[in-house]
Amino acid sequence: MAEQRSRSTKTFFAHLILCLFLVSQVSIASCSNTSVGVNWGTMASHQLPPENVVKMLKDNGFTKLKLFEADQNILNALTGSDIEVMIGIPNRLLKEVAQDPALAASWVEENVTAYSYNGGVNIKYIAVGNEPFLQTYNGTYVEFTLPALVNIQKALEEAGLKNVRVTVPFNADIYFSPESNPVPSAGDFRPELRDVTIEIINFLYTHDSPFTVNIYPFLSLYGNAYFPVDFAFFDGSNNSLRDGDLVYTNVFDANLDTLVCAMERYSFLGMKIIVGEVGWPTDGDKNANAKSAKRFNEGMVKHAMSGNGTPARKGVIMDVYLFSLVDEDAKSIAPGTFERHWGIFEFDGRPKYELDLSGKGDDKTLVPVQDVKYLPKTWCVLDTNAFNQDDLADNVDYACSLSDCTALGFGSSCNHLTNVGNASYAFNMYYQMHDQKTWDCDFLGLGLITDEDPSDDFCEFPVMIDTGNSPRSQPPSSRVLAMVLVILVLPLL
Ligand SMILES: *[C@@H]1O[C@H](CO)[C@@H](O)[C@H](O)[C@H]1NC(C)=O
Ligand SMILES: *[C@@H]1O[C@H](CO)[C@@H](O)[C@H](O)[C@H]1NC(C)=O
Ligand SMILES: *[C@@H]1O[C@H](CO)[C@@H](O)[C@H](O)[C@H]1NC(C)=O
Ligand SMILES: *[C@@H]1O[C@H](CO)[C@@H](O)[C@H](O)[C@H]1NC(C)=O
Ligand SMILES: *[C@@H]1O[C@H](CO)[C@@H](O)[C@H](O)[C@H]1NC(C)=O
Repeated sequence: MAEQRSRSTKTFFAHLILCLFLVSQVSIASCSNTSVGVNWGTMASHQLPPENVVKMLKDNGFTKLKLFEADQNILNALTGSDIEVMIGIPNRLLKEVAQDPALAASWVEENVTAYSYNGGVNIKYIAVGNEPFLQTYNGTYVEFTLPALVNIQKALEEAGLKNVRVTVPFNADIYFSPESNPVPSAGDFRPELRDVTIEIINFLYTHDSPFTVNIYPFLSLYGNAYFPVDFAFFDGSNNSLRDGDLVYTNVFDANLDTLVCAMERYSFLGMKIIVGEVGWPTDGDKNANAKSAKRFNEGMVKHAMSGNGTPARKGVIMDVYLFSLVDEDAKSIAPGTFERHWGIFEFDGRPKYELDLSGKGDDKTLVPVQDVKYLPKTWCVLDTNAFNQDDLADNVDYACSLSDCTALGFGSSCNHLTNVGNASYAFNMYYQMHDQKTWDCDFLGLGLITDEDPSDDFCEFPVMIDTGNSPRSQPPSSRVLAMVLVILVLPLL
């Protein structure tokens, strides 16, 4: 009997262990749906049609998407797709959402509940704020982030949205390792933000919600001329960092484990971490090009999908969202001119390089956005016959200040142009970004419209996508005529 009993107890435990094992396997697979996610930012002068972009996401097998705003056009385009969505609440709304629970409730009502029906949008996370503790914000959002998070969580609960989780995407400089001991195991939160950060983590932890962090190895390289280049990527074995028994061969792992260790310091063990943004730009700096971006993103996807995890947290598939989907020509370039070139795809949805999103590392060509409409194949260049050195610099500055000349800078794709080429590039960017209106290629008579493509092998003079604002939808002649009529007729009325 005793024998029997002990045997069945053993079998019971064996089953239990097997079961736990299976359950944990399943939960790893299902909570990080085996593909990487991507950030879709919309700070571009000309948006691609959201329906076409959503089709491209499906064509390429993206299953997770992160949005910075509850953009109604995008959410409508996502309706009926399985793509799992994280929706951001922009920083500018944090104060009101923090101070007014009713506003939090109506935000949830209008931007989550409205899409959360069978066959609607698969909204999984709400990102409350975006890097709200960034040093350049001078602490503006620090006091509002947690109350906003609390109000949104309450609103979600009251709306019965049990499967939607909250999170806050943080910049990685909320944690650090001391200079005297620069290893992940010495990780801690910045003293001036420590208390509020820990309170937020505690809230997320008790609500079974993930911590989100944005990690940028590119910026490590950008900010430090002595940074070992290979350590920014995932294929360099020469440079390694030893931390006790653990060996780091890339800065991404070292950075992520600094966070893991900081959390463990305050007893947050095994908390789910999402990497909300990670990527590499292709222009605007000497380290920013398609080759490096492919090397980084391919390495990132492979690493995330491998299930190796990081040295301090082995054996997990990482939940990462690449930054970003398309180039955004209206982003602030305060951090650097590379800011407008993070896309895996060009502004018009053409892939910049091959990337295997499954993490197998095959040379897989990405599917472009289909059926993109372009403006006519015309460009605005400097009329060398009208060349007038005095007016040139002012006109180039003017054109650049109201368009995007980030490809002209040092280390960028068009930095080899002559000053004539520079002027043409600036004029063309202004002309394209203003929908090719003839009067936007004047520049005091220095501009000339041409149908000969001025691009060379390295520097592309783009033709803008047609969003329905082109001169063809409203011919300039009739508009001018209408203005003249208004001017002539008004005094008569
Ligand atoms: C992953 O996502 C796809 C599409 O949303 C879904 O069909 C599939 O069941 C998901 N797989 C897991 C393991 O969650
Ligand atoms: C829904 O989200 C959009 C985009 O962020 C925002 O402009 C709008 O105010 C939100 N709705 C409510 C009711 O807060
Ligand atoms: C932060 O403070 C600096 C210096 O006081 C100031 O120049 C900057 O404009 C401030 N930024 C914001 C976002 O308030
Ligand atoms: C490692 O260093 C050697 C010598 O400095 C160099 O030749 C080699 O290319 C490096 N390997 C990698 C993967 O960077
Ligand atoms: C073209 O413009 C860029 C950016 O303003 C500048 O760095 C470069 O020196 C210019 N080239 C010439 C030949 O003037």
